[in-house]
Amino acid sequence: HVDDIPVITIDGPTASGKGTLASEVAKALGYHLLDSGSLYRATALAALRQSVPADDEEGVARLATALSLRFDDHRIELDGQDVTEELRREDVGLLASRVSAHARVRDALRELQLSFRRLPGLVADGRDMGTVIFPQAALKVFLTASAATRAERRHKQLISKGFSANISDLRQDLEARDARDRSRSAAPMKPAEDAVSLDNSALSIEESVQQVLAWWKQRQPF
Ligand code: DC
Repeated sequence: HVDDIPVITIDGPTASGKGTLASEVAKALGYHLLDSGSLYRATALAALRQSVPADDEEGVARLATALSLRFDDHRIELDGQDVTEELRREDVGLLASRVSAHARVRDALRELQLSFRRLPGLVADGRDMGTVIFPQAALKVFLTASAATRAERRHKQLISKGFSANISDLRQDLEARDARDRSRSAAPMKPAEDAVSLDNSALSIEESVQQVLAWWKQRQPF
């Protein structure tokens, strides 16, 4: 039964390292991975390409329902085209934050997210994985890091890809995005009541992974 398939949720703000942590934990456990942000990003990219304005809730929800996505070993295809890199673009992330505020868009992506729950288990990262999509998850992590740390990480990431970027602009952008994700009425970003908090500002990736695996082990009945 699907309720018996274990789920670990990792929610938190932008550039907190959720994606890396989730994918490392999934690898360590041999579990599937759901990067729910990529679904909102793909919806945003589809809206961009088809010139559907972000505030057209109905139009964007229609796109989200009809989204033709393929997931293959951490790569994502939209309408048969590999968009993995494009989805990571800063402007696509900002647009994703805007379209994700619409309740109908969130509803349209719900079933797709649930379908990632397959044996032997799932690690899901996003904003509302523990609160809305997988409220029965056995382990819910709320990952945070200071805005300064997150801006620095994002900066490094962009520079390493050959983009130029300004730390204080990045920090402003991510704080604006967090504020919108936190204050919206549909599935706002917040820790689930039974979530454990992890501030990874001063932790290495490996240390964060080990912490989550230790929590997971504690929750196993055997
Ligand atoms: O995690 P990310 O940066 O890829 O997410 C991009 C945007 O998508 C984020 O600003 C808000 C939205 N999002 C969401 O509303 N709910 C999720 N579960 C994941 C992402």
